[in-house]
Amino acid sequence: MRNKIVAGNWKMNTSVEEGIQLAKEIAQGDIPHDVKLIIAPPFTHLASIKEIIKNNDKISLSAQNCHEKVSGAYTGEISSKMLADLGIEYVILGHSERRTYFHEDDTDIFYKMRVALDNGLKVILCVGEKLEQREVGDHFKVVQKQLEKTLCKFNATEAESVVIAYEPVWAIGTGKTASSEQAEEMHGFIREVIANNFDNKFSENIEILYGGSCKPNNAKEIFSQHNVDGGLIGGASLQSSDFLSIAGSF
Ligand code: PGA
Repeated sequence: MRNKIVAGNWKMNTSVEEGIQLAKEIAQGDIPHDVKLIIAPPFTHLASIKEIIKNNDKISLSAQNCHEKVSGAYTGEISSKMLADLGIEYVILGHSERRTYFHEDDTDIFYKMRVALDNGLKVILCVGEKLEQREVGDHFKVVQKQLEKTLCKFNATEAESVVIAYEPVWAIGTGKTASSEQAEEMHGFIREVIANNFDNKFSENIEILYGGSCKPNNAKEIFSQHNVDGGLIGGASLQSSDFLSIAGSF
């Protein structure tokens, strides 16, 4: 049985005070009993927000990145072990903004996943094609390669701690959403790739979220698709009312 999940990626937004307020509003909101929320604030907010949600079993906390080593001389970096020490449950890896602006490739993402999983974190693994790749019909090939170089290198027990987020790069922050057919088609394809590398049962049980301009007015249509288990929400996760409305869209 797959969980319904709505995850909020706050990116580099909100002051600590604003973040605390947002987390409080979400925690006090009306969260459907069968939906799990994950919020991913900036690193600086994690400890305070952990306190706010500590008695709320419907909300989990995620980091937005981690380093591929456990410790050492890597000025400015945060390790998955540090996140685990803080009681953080998830880390987002492979986000297209990290692939684009910080030049992370699938090998880097694999190493980060390796260390994150070894340290007991669960991973939200983002995959997705760029516009030019879709335009020439390479979108399936691109996503397959991203999965085969990361998720598929783990064994099934490890991979059970991974949630996939399909995020077509052309839909992130652009207001252009994939149509529900495009999302369903790719989510179905992702399940096929996973079935071929693991097995059918594993592939049927892994959660696959859609991300990219998912808003209160389009979430219902996207979430109604058989292979879509929820969303990874950027912009619309910064308003509690929008985020909660998306969580109510199954
Ligand atoms: P968006 O971002 O909802 O603002 O398009 C999604 C994401 O980057 O995860």
